[in-house]
Amino acid sequence: MSETTHRQKSRKAVYPGSFDPITNGHVDIIKRGLKIFDRILVAVLQNPKKEPLFTADERVSMIQDVFAEQKNTEIIAFHGLLVEFAKKNDARVVIRGLRAISDFEYEFQMALMNMKLDPEIETFFMMPNLSYSFLSSKMVKEIFMLGGCLKDLVPEQVENRLREKFKDKHPSLNL
Ligand code: PNS
Repeated sequence: MSETTHRQKSRKAVYPGSFDPITNGHVDIIKRGLKIFDRILVAVLQNPKKEPLFTADERVSMIQDVFAEQKNTEIIAFHGLLVEFAKKNDARVVIRGLRAISDFEYEFQMALMNMKLDPEIETFFMMPNLSYSFLSSKMVKEIFMLGGCLKDLVPEQVENRLREKFKDKHPSLNL
């Protein structure tokens, strides 16, 4: 592979995750990642074993809404091995956010496993802004269900979709 092709490939990165739903922490990583990479492919995990609140199509469409103005992002649902997905899409870099020490063990294991599966794929860790280092999709859902305020935690579109989803799933919550 020529040096130029190598460089071109490294400018495209995959940012994988469950994104159930996308939070401002994820948005921060994508926006800052776009200062380093020319193009970010947001890969939404379609995992039949997990029971997400939002379907893969809903999660993809929510992220597309959030990044509607950002032409250098692409949002795709994926299943199977991440390294295979990255290779198929000509990306050599996988971006992962590291929030706290508690993330480290899982991320370290995953990065090393991906390296074993395909040594050509590099994992690129980014720390989210300090104001998002406590934030997770799981907490967002819990706060919402318990009537807490999601201001600054998720994009407005996501809060609206949460309201619609919980109205359908839990009409008794009176949202
Ligand atoms: O946001 P998440 O749920 O922490 O993201 C996890 C994700 C999607 C990055 C991870 O589950 C994944 O890569 N799944 C694809 C399957 C795979 O490649 N497994 C081997 C690497 S451990």
